[in-house]
Amino acid sequence: MKASGNSFAKSALSLGLVAVIGTSLLSGVNQATAKRIEQQERRVVLEQLGQIILPDRYDNVLQDDRFSFADETWFPQGQEVVAYRARRGGQPVAVILRFIAVDGYSGPIGLLAGIEADGRLAGVRVTSHRETPGLGDGIEIEKSDWIRSFDGRSLGAPPATEWTVHRDGGAFDQFTGATITPRSVVNAVRLALEYHERHRDFLYDAPATPEREKP
Ligand SMILES: Cc1cc2nc3c(=O)[nH]c(=O)nc-3n(C[C@H](O)[C@H](O)[C@H](O)COP(=O)(O)O)c2cc1C
Repeated sequence: MKASGNSFAKSALSLGLVAVIGTSLLSGVNQATAKRIEQQERRVVLEQLGQIILPDRYDNVLQDDRFSFADETWFPQGQEVVAYRARRGGQPVAVILRFIAVDGYSGPIGLLAGIEADGRLAGVRVTSHRETPGLGDGIEIEKSDWIRSFDGRSLGAPPATEWTVHRDGGAFDQFTGATITPRSVVNAVRLALEYHERHRDFLYDAPATPEREKP
């Protein structure tokens, strides 16, 4: 009786140990994957910052002259927005906002929007998304020129009522069989422009805070 009690306890202990080891291994793999995805996105962001505002237009270090903030009115779902400032001789050239469009077809769409000091869009790029290949992924610059349709646009051009896709009476193309993705991106970019219009001084004057890399 005693012997079988002991062996039961041993089995339970071994099973428990296996479960603990398995769980920690899985959590380790998950953490490593998350870190890899984050590093990959950071690399994409750095590359795309240079595409949106050409480096010869500013003399500061864009990725150091950054800070983050949150504002639920323009950037919903508690997201952290990052602002990178481009300056020349200390004067504002452009700000690049990093934020997400929250209502993509398959989830959030990571965006960078470069806004000139006068409120015109220098360019928009997608940093991450899970939209359907062949349907929603035309937002990627590698897949189509659609994202370039933001170049030079501002809050007045097109007028406010046309800041949406053709299907909704707007100035921006949708994709064949995929309206939700471009609608979401256009709306999020319009909100970013509105934020810039109302908070331009804050965007340029807020002190820079270094990026904290997750361990
Ligand atoms: C499997 C599947 C994947 C889809 N992926 C997307 C997508 O990534 N982006 C998108 O805008 N629509 C996608 N759609 C189509 C949408 O459901 C919707 O029909 C389309 O965006 C048109 O929207 P509208 O009727 O509001 O114009 C997908 C549909 C299916 C069945």
